[in-house]
Amino acid sequence: MKQLKKDIILANVPKNRINLDIFEEIDSTNEFLKKNIQSNEFNLVASEKQTNGKGRRGKKWHSPKKGNIYMSISTKNTFKSGPLSLITGIICTKVLSNISQTEEIGLKWPNDLVFNNKKIGGILVEKDIYANEEKTIIGIGINFNINGEENWWGDISELKIEDQRNVIIAKITSEIIKIYDKDHFDWVNQWKNLCIHLNKEVKIFNHNSTAEDGVFIGIEDDGSALIKTESGMKSFKSSEISIKGVY
Ligand code: BTN
Repeated sequence: MKQLKKDIILANVPKNRINLDIFEEIDSTNEFLKKNIQSNEFNLVASEKQTNGKGRRGKKWHSPKKGNIYMSISTKNTFKSGPLSLITGIICTKVLSNISQTEEIGLKWPNDLVFNNKKIGGILVEKDIYANEEKTIIGIGINFNINGEENWWGDISELKIEDQRNVIIAKITSEIIKIYDKDHFDWVNQWKNLCIHLNKEVKIFNHNSTAEDGVFIGIEDDGSALIKTESGMKSFKSSEISIKGVY
């Protein structure tokens, strides 16, 4: 396993716009950025391990030292180009596909990275105010090697790109900055092209734990899922979705 290396990452990002910190161990890269003053336009942090990695909806993110990516980017800037967590999903998928030369990594709504029908990565976007600074924090976890303690956990070990972790972190960061620099980004079509369950039957779990069946028709400008149910077309904001045949 190749270590995280500051010089390789900095060589592949617009380094005058970024402050970079690398840790051997940290509680959570998202929490670290929340508690630190923004020292450049973008602050980037990556760690070999997290002791309290956080997932969406209050879940934990299993974060052992196994050559995975645990990274977060924060900025005071506002993104004008669309729902950031979905856009970050597109970016991560494309960077991984490019480097591994496969098209087998896809997206499950809203922003799970999927390979071989298992979740291999996730994104946690948070907003926070610290010392009167409002900022957005984009947290990204990508599993290159994980023990499948849960049957829906997967990794991309078979793609054999773990040695390129530093370049992957740099490329994801650079692409996020490129999106920030744009006023408009045609993310809807790109997201749909990468979606693994477009026009397929899905089960939607609402926050109150009720479930509804339907066909996943597409996505709206704000990132909501459009589902055709027995009682008509419905739009769902950020509930959990479960798909037959996928975790
Ligand atoms: C999800 O539940 O799908 C989102 C997982 C996000 C995990 C990443 S790992 C780096 C960053 N720091 C955290 O504590 N969480 C995010």
